[in-house]
Amino acid sequence: MSGNDREIGLESIVIDVLINDRRVVRRIDVRQHLGDFLRVDLELTGTHLGCEHGVCGACTILLDGRTTRACLTLTAQAHGKQVHTIEGLSESGALDELREAFIAHNAAQCAFCSSGMLLTAHELLQLGKTVSRDDIRNYLSGNICRCTGYHAIIDAVESVLRAKGGAA
Ligand code: FES
Ligand code: FES
Repeated sequence: MSGNDREIGLESIVIDVLINDRRVVRRIDVRQHLGDFLRVDLELTGTHLGCEHGVCGACTILLDGRTTRACLTLTAQAHGKQVHTIEGLSESGALDELREAFIAHNAAQCAFCSSGMLLTAHELLQLGKTVSRDDIRNYLSGNICRCTGYHAIIDAVESVLRAKGGAA
C-alpha cells in the first residue's frame, strides 16, 4: 500500500445502502453527513438542510423506518441500512393523504419545513395509535416551522388521523 492509498483509506470508506429501495454503493468521505450525501451526491434535494445542528428538523429522513436527523448522521452510519427520503415516499404514494391534507389546510407556505414535517407525521400515522391534538403537537415538536404558526399543520395531520379513526 502506498502512502497515498493509506491516506485515502483514512479519509474514505465504501458504503452499501438502500436509498428509497434502490441499492447504492459509493465511496464517501468518512466525515460527510447523510444530508450532504443525499443532496449533493445523489441530488435528492427534498431533504432540506437548515441549522445543520440537529435543531430544526428540516433534514428529517427515515433510517430503517425511524425518523432521523440527516445532519447529525454520518453517511457511514447508513451502511447496511435503509434510507427513505421525501422523494421515495412520494413516489410510492405513502404520503398522498398527508400531502392532500397539507394542501387542503394550507399547511405549507415557504414549504422549507414540509418534507421533514411530512415524514414525522407519517411516522406518527404508522404507529396506529389514537392520539389527541396535543399528542400531535408534541410529536411534531422537533420540526420547526417559521411560517404557519403550526395550527394549520396540526389541523392537517389531525384530519388524516380522524379519517383513519386515530384522533381522540
Ligand atoms: S438541518 Fe438537521 S436538524 Fe436542522
Ligand atoms: S412553511 Fe415555511 S418553514 Fe414551515
